[in-house]
Amino acid sequence: MKIIAANWKMNGSFDDSDLWLESFKKKFYLELQSFKNIEAVLCPPSILIDYIDSEIMQDGLDHLELVAQKQSRSFDDFSEDEVKKILIDERPIKLGGQDCSAEEKGAFTGDISANMLKEIGCEYVILGHSERRKNHFESDEIVAKKIKVALANNLTPIICVGENKEIRRDKKHVEFVLNQILKSIPKDDVKFGKLVVAYEPIWSIGTGVVPSLEQIEEMAKEISKALEENFSGVCDEIFLLYGGSVNSKNSKEILSVSKVGGLLVGGASLDAEEFLKICLS
Ligand code: PGA
Repeated sequence: MKIIAANWKMNGSFDDSDLWLESFKKKFYLELQSFKNIEAVLCPPSILIDYIDSEIMQDGLDHLELVAQKQSRSFDDFSEDEVKKILIDERPIKLGGQDCSAEEKGAFTGDISANMLKEIGCEYVILGHSERRKNHFESDEIVAKKIKVALANNLTPIICVGENKEIRRDKKHVEFVLNQILKSIPKDDVKFGKLVVAYEPIWSIGTGVVPSLEQIEEMAKEISKALEENFSGVCDEIFLLYGGSVNSKNSKEILSVSKVGGLLVGGASLDAEEFLKICLS
């Protein structure tokens, strides 16, 4: 299975969400078979998540009604597992937040808790994105704390790491990223189902500059090795995503790089057609 996540960042409106979902679903149902091995995750701004969740939930309920009609059953005849399968497991797209607080709750004006994200339908949360590390001064220690809170609330964190231009120029990228991984990902008192790490070189985010396949392969190899050596005891599965200027023209070759198990897509994910093409590449 591959994880293809859309990070809308601070973009999108209610109208945009309607259009995006309509366009995504139209193609999704035509390509149902190809999506069997893809976990598509949408991470919109938090203000839109609840709305998008209820739209997806309504589709699930319509589907449930159709199944009930076809099988001449009433809703009451469905077991909890059957309902969960249709409403949650078979969703065309899962939802994720773009950040959550390192605290469970309390006097933290403007912050959003992991539990709140869970309550509005999220299964994932992006943590440690370079834009948060830079603009909100998030250290590896804060990211580690957020990961613990996310896990405690049954959210799968998508943990971002990546070096800037200068570090790459000085050929210190491997050392830097491995250090970020060891410091940002907690090992004690945690259990990951999926351990999802997104390697996002900062110099590639939003710039249109994509590393060569050799550069991606080098990092993917080093990161996977570090993850396997240090975290295989606290997770069931490891997914390494690549992020940075991904589009439908480069997604296929990036996904073909050994150890790359998915993508984190920013700008190109705002266009549902483009995101779908990336999912199907
Ligand atoms: P980009 O962003 O695809 O627009 O480069 C990726 C990200 O920041 O997750």
